[in-house]
Amino acid sequence: MDYPEYLRKVPKVELHCHFEGTVRAATFADLARKHEVALPTDEVARLYDYDTIYEFLKIFGMVSSTLIDRADFARCAYESLEDGVRLGNLRYREMFFNPTLHTRRGIPMATVIDGLVDGIRAAETDFGVRCKLIADVYRQDAPELARQMVEEVLANRVDELIGLGMDGAEAPDPPEKFVEAYRAAKAGGLRLTSHASEDAPPVNITTCLDVLGCERIDHGYHILADTAVLNRCKDEGIYFTCCPTSTAVVYGWPDLTAHPIKDMVAAGLNVMLNSDDPTMFHTDLGREYVELCTALGYDQSTVRTLVLNGVDATWLDDTDKASLRTEFTGELDALDAALTGTDR
Ligand code: HPA
Ligand code: ZN
Repeated sequence: MDYPEYLRKVPKVELHCHFEGTVRAATFADLARKHEVALPTDEVARLYDYDTIYEFLKIFGMVSSTLIDRADFARCAYESLEDGVRLGNLRYREMFFNPTLHTRRGIPMATVIDGLVDGIRAAETDFGVRCKLIADVYRQDAPELARQMVEEVLANRVDELIGLGMDGAEAPDPPEKFVEAYRAAKAGGLRLTSHASEDAPPVNITTCLDVLGCERIDHGYHILADTAVLNRCKDEGIYFTCCPTSTAVVYGWPDLTAHPIKDMVAAGLNVMLNSDDPTMFHTDLGREYVELCTALGYDQSTVRTLVLNGVDATWLDDTDKASLRTEFTGELDALDAALTGTDR
């Protein structure tokens, strides 16, 4: 076993992955045909080509517009988890979805949630992978629409639906815009997270923690620009869900050695790795580990820290978390033993 194979095989948790960004290009083309949605190109291999977050978000919306029936959501959720298992030994995911990208097109919230849950339950039966859901506020929406979305999510709540998050372009729409939506989610018993300081200053991290009540931070790449925010997050043990490839592409970091994740890990923050929008950035969870850990020269002990940070950052209950930790530790020990003496 070589090191890339080892990195693919380590058991993984994923906490920053957008359902709509996991749709296979071939499935996107298939659903577009089924529902007669016009595509920008006939070449499946070129459907997911873009250079900026704004172009990316446009295609993200277009993929969403091909998801119409409950079966469409189920198929894509199932395939998404199948890919995670096959390419990265995914064992547990807390997955984002954007309700308003669907409900604004007249798709009932129940169709979205029930379809996702059908796919999640079928994938658990077939592959043993578990998955929960986080409904994301779309930052470019009006605050009132986001608050209504939360009410509707709570009215259609299922066991799988455990949290509220927030995505979309960060710079034009700061987090405080959505304080009401977060308040309603907390009152309804949802766990809270948000994309923050992906494309904006570290003050957005402070706002997410103190004003919105977030428990984790998604991305957080500009945190090193503010020592006070950095020290606070270290002291409080805040977990950061980081995504190497997707952000290197849209923010123009030329290769992964220039990605701020390197300095975040070196500064002692609790970082874990994710694929974000894997199919849309031509990556997968296994590849994220392979590319980042080989580019930065991370050894097995750093990989173990990244993997177990993922477990500790989940919103599983303490018993479940402890048993997942034990399971992962045993598998990591066995993989470490298999790697010893082989060529790195
Ligand atoms: N950032 C902002 N919006 C998004 C992302 C992201 O990482 N993924 C999907 N929508
Ligand atoms: Zn994201």
